[in-house]
Amino acid sequence: MRNPKTFFRPLAVGAPAPVREVPFRPSRMLHFFDPSNAKMVAKLPDLASKVDVLLGNLEDAVQAVNKDAARAGLVDVARTVDLGGTQLWTRINSLDSPWALDDLTTLVTEIGNELDVIMVPKVEGPEDIHYVDRLLAQLEVKGGVRKPLLVHAILETASGVAQVEEIALASPRMQGISLGPADLGADRRMKTTRAGGGHPWYLVREDPVDSDVHAPRATYLQDVYHYTIGRMVDACVQAGIYPYYGPFGDIGDVVACEDQFRNAYLMGCVGTWSLHPVQIDIARRVFSPDVSEVAWARRVVDAMGDGTGAVMIDGKMQDDASVKMCRVTLDLAAELAE
Ligand code: GLV
Ligand code: MG
Repeated sequence: MRNPKTFFRPLAVGAPAPVREVPFRPSRMLHFFDPSNAKMVAKLPDLASKVDVLLGNLEDAVQAVNKDAARAGLVDVARTVDLGGTQLWTRINSLDSPWALDDLTTLVTEIGNELDVIMVPKVEGPEDIHYVDRLLAQLEVKGGVRKPLLVHAILETASGVAQVEEIALASPRMQGISLGPADLGADRRMKTTRAGGGHPWYLVREDPVDSDVHAPRATYLQDVYHYTIGRMVDACVQAGIYPYYGPFGDIGDVVACEDQFRNAYLMGCVGTWSLHPVQIDIARRVFSPDVSEVAWARRVVDAMGDGTGAVMIDGKMQDDASVKMCRVTLDLAAELAE
């Protein structure tokens, strides 16, 4: 197993430098576009200045008859559209489809130097990542690709969730993992038809007052994917790669979308997918540290001097662990400001 040193974990005093780091590049929103859709492609130069990542989607949501056009369209975008330095990712078709091999072969040999990350859907286990890793190594040589392409897995099968730690560590190419709630819901036989977010029937109810179980009581929605997000974040952190939320399908419900994104941010995710322009600003707002949180974190770190011991600030006890928590926010703010 590779040494899973991570960019997340502040070094303990005197510890050796991490041996493996996935470079931080802002990716608060992975903005999906269909490269076979001329209208969407025409908007890319404008969108490029508003997003951290543009992702040419070749998989679900692209009709089977358009698979070749989408692949060719992405090659065209990479060669002809000025994205002004914005990262270009792709989601290839799943390895159990007839298109994945053509996707990899064409994209890597033709535009391998323009692509940053290849997202692999429906990953079942580390063997899927090994397969992609070996193919990429061959195709990169064939295509004269100057730096190794990174790989991002979507966690959307029960088998994938059961092996998420192995997937995260499966290759030094691994950049991150996203949650795929729609396919995961189907694969697990969950009884939901929503792509992400809560479910109105998945809730907890306040305890009854005076044992009157029939009196009206407040109810609270629960996130049906909470467990998976937590497990994905832990797997990513131990491997030194980045966890992401995934799609929020109800485009019109910007309030629930923001709640979902914020829950994922608070749980450790660094970004999410945006499927529509309205989700871009939500993602930027949510996945950038709040100004008041940064100010508070700075106060705590400054008050703690060498980072050891304990102080009281506004009646709240702070110690070595508080400093570590605060540094997460400060580091993120600094990285995003670069
Ligand atoms: C995304 O691909 C999902 O299935 O939710
Ligand atoms: Mg999916």
